Amino acid sequence: MKLLVTGGAGFIGSAFVRTTLATQPEAEILTLDKLTYAGNLDNLAPVEGSARHRFVRADICDAAAIDEAFASFHPDAIVHFAAESHVDRSIHSPAPVFETNLRGTFTLLEAARRHGLAHFQHVSTDEVYGSIEAPHDADEQYPLHTSSPYSASKAGSDLLALSYYTTYKLPVTVTRASNNYGPYQFPEKLIPLMIANALEDKALPVYGDGQQIRDWLYVDDHCAAIRAVIAKGRAGEVYNIGGSRSLANLDVVHRILKATAKPKSLIRYVTDRPGHDRRYALSSAKIERETGWAPAVEFEAGLAATVAWYQANSEWVGRVRSGAYQSYYEQNYAHR
Ligand code: NAD
Ligand code: TYD
Repeated sequence: MKLLVTGGAGFIGSAFVRTTLATQPEAEILTLDKLTYAGNLDNLAPVEGSARHRFVRADICDAAAIDEAFASFHPDAIVHFAAESHVDRSIHSPAPVFETNLRGTFTLLEAARRHGLAHFQHVSTDEVYGSIEAPHDADEQYPLHTSSPYSASKAGSDLLALSYYTTYKLPVTVTRASNNYGPYQFPEKLIPLMIANALEDKALPVYGDGQQIRDWLYVDDHCAAIRAVIAKGRAGEVYNIGGSRSLANLDVVHRILKATAKPKSLIRYVTDRPGHDRRYALSSAKIERETGWAPAVEFEAGLAATVAWYQANSEWVGRVRSGAYQSYYEQNYAHR
């Protein structure tokens, strides 16, 4: 199986590359990544030297570069992770979100159509369902209702991908996962930001009242679910991937303070995010029924492993936090 993995130098994409090469001896991977602020070749260091892995630096909006990747590698499938993936950044700077998440996905779909690809696995998010009133959860039929430029761009790219199945019979699957956490996550999302700040005795900025609910999924469980969909998923279908662990943000922050042995006095309540979705909740019954996948990592064990990784990798954190990170941090937090 030859897989073209877009965004494979990012958080989830690199976990997919590492775990797929480790668990599937027949897999060959070409990672294609633009290396934006979120992409980092350090994340692929564990597979450096593997004869079954190649890397190419390219933008998914660059049709010629994508054609070249298809022509030289002849992939059986694309696993499409590349995206501008952060809600707060999408609020400050929506243009790259539109460009990569919509135009980039369109460029890949067109290449896949021209080259007659056997499978296009589009990686998406539960945020496309928007905020969900308790006690309900979203199955794959739930209406799309987006709040941020990020979630709107993901919903748009999901629909575009599905249209290529309906219209051109391109074998597309779409997965919608809940909030991921684990090693190598850029310290701008809740869990890595709070761990990195706690370890440096910096303030932990909690938006609003901190009672927003997210469903947490360990990154390796997400990657296993994507492999299950590639192996057993039906073309033209959407599969939700949840961690079956809903927690309020403040609860997560308290657990991080406990795991890092830091005081609650580090918590700072700051101005809420505009358009902040209150609650995400997902039903994963379909993927469990059709593929047999289920999350394997309990939140307690996953969080402990994640905290331990950030403790052991302060150099990685220091490197990704240098340069442009400082101006982002200032832009997002200084006025709150
Ligand atoms: P990330 O921000 O860590 O990584 C994104 C990667 O895409 C980076 O390596 C970046 O360099 C690359 N990239 C960005 N623009 C590109 C372009 N134009 N061309 C080529 N490469 C480009 O993101 P992540 O958290 O690993 O998310 C990966 C995917 O999973 C995204 O599609 C995201 O929407 C989806 N997702 C994320 C989560 C989550 O909790 N992080 C949850 C559900 C779904
Ligand atoms: P985030 O990790 O950005 O993921 P998403 O917005 O895609 O769910 O945020 C998770 C939750 O944590 C969300 O409710 C916003 C909140 N949050 C904070 O309270 N403080 C922060 O500094 C960040 C980054 C997020």
